[in-house]
Amino acid sequence: MSAPAVTPVITIDGPGGSGKGTVSRRVAAALGFHLLDSGAIYRVAALACVRQGVALDDVAAAAEVASTMQVSFEVLGDRTGVALGGVDVSDEVPLESTGSLASQVAKHGEVRDAVLGLQRRFRRAPGLVADGRDMGTVVFADALCKVYLTASVEERARRRYQQLTDQGLRVTLDDLTSSIRARDARDMGREIAPLRPADDALSIDSTSLPIESVCEQVLAYYAKRVAQYPQ
Ligand code: DC
Repeated sequence: MSAPAVTPVITIDGPGGSGKGTVSRRVAAALGFHLLDSGAIYRVAALACVRQGVALDDVAAAAEVASTMQVSFEVLGDRTGVALGGVDVSDEVPLESTGSLASQVAKHGEVRDAVLGLQRRFRRAPGLVADGRDMGTVVFADALCKVYLTASVEERARRRYQQLTDQGLRVTLDDLTSSIRARDARDMGREIAPLRPADDALSIDSTSLPIESVCEQVLAYYAKRVAQYPQ
């Protein structure tokens, strides 16, 4: 009897503003794959803690909130609709302030364990593109195709600035740069599942690359991995 087919996963990890969200969305659309924005899960967990008056460093209570929150995602073209307990939180999720809260709650191993099952349930046929910090190192360590996407801090802050001001939000480049630096330090320096490239990841520096070219490189790398390891 042959082994059951494994649903392929493409992991795209990297720091905030590296372009992984846009690249993941486009690669998933090109292949007809499902999409997991794991950062949004941590963002919603942080919002749920704030709503319930749970301090982000109250590890047991935050993990309880993360494991019981009722969250749903809907891919809507260029953005993701997110509901928490049936309430639309799509506007709060992308804020840099929410990203900063998410980074604080995400450093706790108990919180990460609480959302592990939720993340893994996104793996469904015909395939999944998963974007985050530890997709290739922890959550889908067996993924067929792993990518680590990065860019200079200045370029990432500039992209975030563009993205948020396009949405009509008032932010300054200086504030974004310091928040991104602080998040990088926290996400890379934490003990559990720190942000780092998986040993078998293809690293792409997107500082001066157009998004189309990054997507092409990811799709070409995926095709190469499929040819190397037919499922
Ligand atoms: O990708 P993002 O900016 O939406 O992520 C927000 C924060 O959530 C990020 O600063 C750290 C945390 N995060 C994480 O710890 N692990 C992931 N897989 C995704 C996000």
